Parts: sequence; structure tokens; C-alpha cells
Amino acid sequence: MVRILKALGLGLSTASMLVAAAPMPTAAPELKNAVALQKRASCTFTDAAAASKSKASCATIVLDNIAVPSGTTLDMTKLTDGTKVIFEGTTTWGYEEWSGPLFSVSGKDIEVSGSSGNSLDGNGAKWWDGKGTNGGKTKPKFFYAHSLTGNSSISGLNIINSPVQTFSINDATGLTVSDVTIDNSAAGDLGHNTDAFDIGSSTDITISGANVKNQDDCLAINSGTGITFTGGTCSGGHGLSIGSVGGRDDNVVSDITISSSTISDSANGVRIKTISGATGSVKGVTYKDITLSNISDYGIVIEQDYENGSPTGTPTAGVPITDLTISGIKGTVASDATNIYILCASGACSGWTWENVEVTGGKTSAKCSNLPSGASC
Ligand SMILES: *[C@@H]1O[C@H](CO)[C@@H](O)[C@H](O)[C@H]1NC(C)=O
Ligand SMILES: *[C@@H]1O[C@H](CO)[C@@H](O)[C@H](O)[C@H]1NC(C)=O
Repeated sequence: MVRILKALGLGLSTASMLVAAAPMPTAAPELKNAVALQKRASCTFTDAAAASKSKASCATIVLDNIAVPSGTTLDMTKLTDGTKVIFEGTTTWGYEEWSGPLFSVSGKDIEVSGSSGNSLDGNGAKWWDGKGTNGGKTKPKFFYAHSLTGNSSISGLNIINSPVQTFSINDATGLTVSDVTIDNSAAGDLGHNTDAFDIGSSTDITISGANVKNQDDCLAINSGTGITFTGGTCSGGHGLSIGSVGGRDDNVVSDITISSSTISDSANGVRIKTISGATGSVKGVTYKDITLSNISDYGIVIEQDYENGSPTGTPTAGVPITDLTISGIKGTVASDATNIYILCASGACSGWTWENVEVTGGKTSAKCSNLPSGASC
């Protein structure tokens, strides 16, 4: 169902008017008159299929308490430039074994936001079996932010109960994600691979003020440049990660800043991992002002020896880690955890700045190797 809430022109900003004057790629019949006037409507949808069908005709799309049928994507891809999408009330998804995504958005200068009290409930309990993407039920990924361009934003969403990975940010350029909450705490031990933000092949991405409770990486950057993660709160997961880097189509990570965040009750704090035998590069990464508490495995872990998702213990030099800054990383790990572990191949880690690092409470590793000058375990 689509309701045209206001005739176009009413209350639209100058920017929206300019966007509205662009040629319309498609238009639902019921909006024909509006299109003839080259104006786009504000539309409220209570049905997923209707929203996907008429999306290109609307300047603002309100997704009002939608129950998305099982096995389907709430599809907001290929939106008209400058479209605003607003989640209102509770959005839910039905159960089916499939790989998703539950929601997908793409376009230029797109603004996705949530009204006060919004909730996107992935209904994860129906899928959680402790196996994530490694087996058991096929689980849908949640939120694809792929091919967003221009100056796009995602803000104020409250996401709960993700079946498996939550945000996939891929092939995006110029995206700000602010004040998003991801709460997967209901999954407990049955949650697996519930990454909060996975980023690949993307440029100029800023994630600020994220509040995450999950069971895998809070952030995982596999490739991309110009990426900032700041003001985040992560708990229950695997920490703030770069990698694994190598073995994909895009194996370059550069110009990354991860700052002013806290990580608690997690397997790791700061983590960089690269793939054994692969090629690529990790250059210009800064971790600054990160506070750790109750970390169960490693406070800081940097290793060049991953293979099939596990460390081999033998690092290789094909993905060098250069111009790394580790500054102001403080806090405590569990008594049986390791404070810091660095496993570099000979000559494959260089140009590091290492300052104000105080990770305590755990063991000192005896296996660190090929540390660049300044760094210490
Ligand atoms: C991007 O959008 C934000 C929010 O609408 C605005 O504050 C900012 O100036 C925009 N940036 C550019 C480069 O247009
Ligand atoms: C420490 O973190 C683990 C998860 O890594 C959690 O199970 C445990 O309850 C936490 N301990 C405290 C004292 O919060």
C-alpha cells in the first residue's frame, strides 16, 4: 500500500527540488500525475513488496512497522538520487533458511534513518545454532550497504537479533554510519559469526558511535581505504579487526583510523591478521585511544599466519604491515589471556609507531617474532 502524504513541492528543501527535477527512471502508475509535474512524493509503506515496487517514485520512503515475508529482501536498492528512507516502529522478518540479505540499500546521496523507538528485529533465535556460516542452518545476512555513493548516511537504527553477519559494507564510497545499535546479546553461546560491520572494497567510510553486543568481530576490514571507526562500544565479540587480509579480489587496506572506543568481554581487543602465502598490503592503520577490559584471548594481536580461518604459527611476508600506529591502548585482559602477541615474517612489519600501550593482567607472550623497532610484547 502506498499513501501519498503530500503533493510534491510542499515543504521540500531546495536540494530535494533539484533532485526531484532529475528524469524519473520508473514510476508507479498511481504516481503518474506527480511524475508529470516532475515531483516526487513522500510515501509511507506498510508492505514490503509495495515499498520495493514504488521506491523510485518517492523522495522519502517511510517503512512503517513492516513484517517482511520469509525468504525475501526488503529491497531499497537502486534508489533515486537523494532518497530518504526512514524506519518507523518495528520491522520484522519471517523465518526461512536462505542466505539473505534481509535488507539491502543502494544509490547516491541516500539517507537511511530510524524514528525514535525504531527496531529492526532479525528474529535470529529461529536460526541460531552455534554454527554461524560454518554449518547448520543456512542463515540470512542482515543489512547490505553495497554500492552506496555520493554522500550517503545510515543513522539511528536499532538492530537486534541478527541471524548471522549484520552490516556488509561493500563497494561503497562516501558513507557515514552514525549512532547505530546492534544488540545480539540474546544469542548467547548460540550466536556465531554475528559480525557487526564487515567492510570490503570501500572508500571514505565513517562509523561513529556504534554500540555493539555480538559474538564475532565488532569491525572487520578486509579491504578499503579512508575508513574511520570512532566512539564505538563493543562487547561480547572478537574485537576491532583488520582482516583477514589476502586471498580475495581486493587485498589492499590503507588509511584507516580506529579510535576512542571501548572493547569489553571480548576475545580480542585490537587485531590485525593477514593470510599465509597470500599477497596484499596493510598500510597506514592507526589504532588510538582504545580501552580494553575482560579480554579472554589477546589484548593486542597482530599476525601474518592465517590459513582457512586459523593461525598456522608460521608467518609469511606477502601482506606487509607498514606505517602502523598503536597509541593509547590501555586496559586489562583476563589472567589466562595474553597481553600482546605479534607474529611478523622477517622484514614484513616496518615503520610502526608504538606509544602509551598499557595492556596488563594476562601473560607475556614468548612467541613474538620479527618485531619492528619500537614495538614490544
Ligand atoms: C553530507 O551530508 C551531510 C548531512 O546531510 C552534510 O552535513 C555534509 O555537509 C554533506 N557533505 C558533503 C560533502 O556534501
Ligand atoms: C568476561 O568476558 C566473557 C566473554 O569473553 C564473559 O563470558 C564473562 O562473563 C566476562 N566476565 C565478567 C566478570 O564480566
